[in-house]
Amino acid sequence: GAPQTRTPTGAETGAPTTANGQQGAYLTTANGARLRDTDHSLKAGPRGPVLLQDHHLREKITHFDHERIPERVVHARGAGAHGVFTAYGTAEAVTRAGFLKKGRETEVFVRFSTVLGSRGSADTVRDTRGFATKFYTDEGTFDLVGNNMPVFFIQDAIKFPDIIHAGKPHPDREIPQAQSAHDTFWDFVSLHTEAQHHTIWNMSDRGIPRSYRTMEGFGVHTFRLVNEAGETVLAKFHWKPKLGVHSLTWEEAQLLGGMDPDFHRRDLYDAIEAGAYPEWELGIQVFPDTPEETFAGIDLLDPTKIVPEELAEVQPIGRLVLNRTPTNFFAETEQVAFHLGHLPPGIDVTNDPLLQGRLFSYLDTQLTRLGGPNFAQIPINRPHAAVNDMLRDGFHQHAVHAGVAPYRPNSLDGGNPFPAGDAEHAFVDVPVTVAEAPKVRANPASFDDHYSQVRLFWLSMSPVEKEHIIRAYTFELGKCYHQAIKERQLQSLANIDPVLCEQVATGLGLPAPQPSVPLADVAPSPALSQVGREWPGD
Ligand code: HEM
Repeated sequence: GAPQTRTPTGAETGAPTTANGQQGAYLTTANGARLRDTDHSLKAGPRGPVLLQDHHLREKITHFDHERIPERVVHARGAGAHGVFTAYGTAEAVTRAGFLKKGRETEVFVRFSTVLGSRGSADTVRDTRGFATKFYTDEGTFDLVGNNMPVFFIQDAIKFPDIIHAGKPHPDREIPQAQSAHDTFWDFVSLHTEAQHHTIWNMSDRGIPRSYRTMEGFGVHTFRLVNEAGETVLAKFHWKPKLGVHSLTWEEAQLLGGMDPDFHRRDLYDAIEAGAYPEWELGIQVFPDTPEETFAGIDLLDPTKIVPEELAEVQPIGRLVLNRTPTNFFAETEQVAFHLGHLPPGIDVTNDPLLQGRLFSYLDTQLTRLGGPNFAQIPINRPHAAVNDMLRDGFHQHAVHAGVAPYRPNSLDGGNPFPAGDAEHAFVDVPVTVAEAPKVRANPASFDDHYSQVRLFWLSMSPVEKEHIIRAYTFELGKCYHQAIKERQLQSLANIDPVLCEQVATGLGLPAPQPSVPLADVAPSPALSQVGREWPGD
């Protein structure tokens, strides 16, 4: 019988009609013409030459030639999964976000990643891990684009190209693929001492997670939450894994890097397929929204600082379960596009200068990576909320927009589609006062303390964790060729803790310097080294 093919209209993109996402019972060209043979080129006799008129040959090879898109400029290596987020309702007092109301279920897509390696690099390297979550809420998509570490290397997004240039493989040798074991990385972090906090997290066991399922996640920045009454608080987001936090030992990571470089993506896929669905609890630390934007003396706009959980408890607000593997890695995991500006009503940004720069960077990079301005129409990026925007045309436009030109107000389109009132609207900016101050390229003085929280981290570690940290610094710094860089980093270690510094210096065969800033007076923080809270229902 005749093939049952039907070309989707612009309004019906992406609806598969067979299991493999294709349509009809026969092999066809891209234009739906039935094919008898896709195994032989059209030739002038069996011995050729091949004929230029063979459109099928040219279409097949041309399409293949263009199958790859640029990998992400950072976080190129990743693995994703679908799931469901269920809200406890405990955040209702502080945010009007509908998806956080009690019992609400929201579909999500999560992508985990390493930062520095290419798409084909190993999963098991010492690196930060990305933990990006897309909540398809009915008030618009919310992207929580976080990492498995609660602090970042830099305080200002203008330094992001610098730190990434320093951390990526050498421009001449393209070595190393993903580890921080080289001169430019250590040159950067020893010259930019605000990076020392993130760096010690990387040198700790947190830098080599056992599984994506056993990682914490952090929104890092402070966000501003707005409730129904328009009242605001400042907040930090935390993901706590049900399985607890677990790492690989360095030896395990090295063996797995050779034997199974796909270890983490295999683990995620296999766990979900086996029905052992990974779970996390989402929590928030909540702080009063004061004009100073500080809590317990900690500047909440400084992304190199945590607020210890002893000072502000992480309050659970919902549960995430990952229960479905992607059908197609390219369509979903590769094409997913996260953006910190994807915010529902009730969640707003702050003036953290790292956050502000990120608000620009992601859309900008995705314009190149995903080939133009219409990637929100790719199935994995489509909001589950209704879309009625004024964006038109452009490369890869799939919508067939009807009606008059999109300008507002518009007396020809039969009425204004915007209802009165703004209770449910996103981007209802909180009217925070913008400082009347001269334009400067400068940080606030509160950003200048680069060591006290690094020392807090070090002192909170158990003896075996300290041993691992010493070994990690010694190994990674041991890969540097320039002695001056090792010496400069030892100076930072001396400012963190004399024992740490002496042990690493001994390992490197170098003298241990004296601290150049007074050692911070801090008490150890037990919550840093263990994730001990009970799981509800256990
Ligand atoms: C990608 C997290 C800072 C630029 C990512 C991804 C994550 C992430 C998780 C991967 C998203 C995915 O899986 O598709 C973070 C965190 C940061 C941070 C937690 C600091 C708190 C920055 C800064 C910039 C930046 C400061 C630039 C100024 C990018 C870019 C990508 C990316 C360009 C690639 C996005 C894409 O191709 O879709 N980041 N990042 N990031 N990040 Fe960041």
